[in-house]
Amino acid sequence: MRREVIAIGAEAILYLENWLGLTVLVKERVPKGYRRVELDYYIRKLRTASEARAMIRASMLGIPVPRVYDVDLVNMRIRMEYLRGTPLVKFLISGSVNAQVLSYLHTMGKYLGLLHSDGIIHGDPTPANILIVNDKLYLIDFGLSEFLGRRPRTNDVRALYKLAVDLNVTLRSLEALRKDQSKELFNEFFQGYSEALSNDIAVRVRQFVDRIRKMVRYAVR
Ligand SMILES: Nc1ncnc2c1ncn2[C@@H]1O[C@H](COP(=O)(O)OP(=O)(O)O)[C@@H](O)[C@H]1O
Ligand SMILES: [Mg+2]
Repeated sequence: MRREVIAIGAEAILYLENWLGLTVLVKERVPKGYRRVELDYYIRKLRTASEARAMIRASMLGIPVPRVYDVDLVNMRIRMEYLRGTPLVKFLISGSVNAQVLSYLHTMGKYLGLLHSDGIIHGDPTPANILIVNDKLYLIDFGLSEFLGRRPRTNDVRALYKLAVDLNVTLRSLEALRKDQSKELFNEFFQGYSEALSNDIAVRVRQFVDRIRKMVRYAVR
């Protein structure tokens, strides 16, 4: 079978395949030699299952994600819709921070807020994991996602902390990409985020982000 490899990630290989007459993208988690076989098998199975589950949950929430066609927990692969898109990160690496880029960040924030409002942590919400197809944003790469199992509440410190860790991943990626404009970008992202969640939750999560960052600052001194 001919395979066109489109990406080799840290833990998965992504390739195109003709499947039942359809060009699909296969994300396959390959064994890691440095892990014990049983543990490796367990981790690959867990991540494949939680990735597929989170994608399906996200689409039920109205968040655009690639369609899931098939989940194979023997070979650890997900067959999904192939999106011919451009990752948001490309717009941030080159080009100016214009109204279009800001509106993309706003939408990205809204989608993360929607996920969080349902108690789902994405795990790696960076602009590399947003694909843009004809001006429409898709959220991808749910391999590190987690389920809180309930909607977050303002008194649930553990849940708020986990949401904040997710947001901090976004913030750090923006700082790495655009040190000078990261505040403006994150503010726009957070605006969108706040629209999708109840306001008191969004404010609390942001307080936790500030706390995490203070802790990190003290730790590296
Ligand atoms: N459904 C898809 N359609 C098109 N390209 C995709 C799709 N899913 C992933 N990709 C591309 O493959 C890359 C790696 O996929 P990703 O799921 O992010 O895996 P990793 O965990 O290795 O980051 C993405 O950054 C994106 O460019
Ligand atoms: Mg990725």
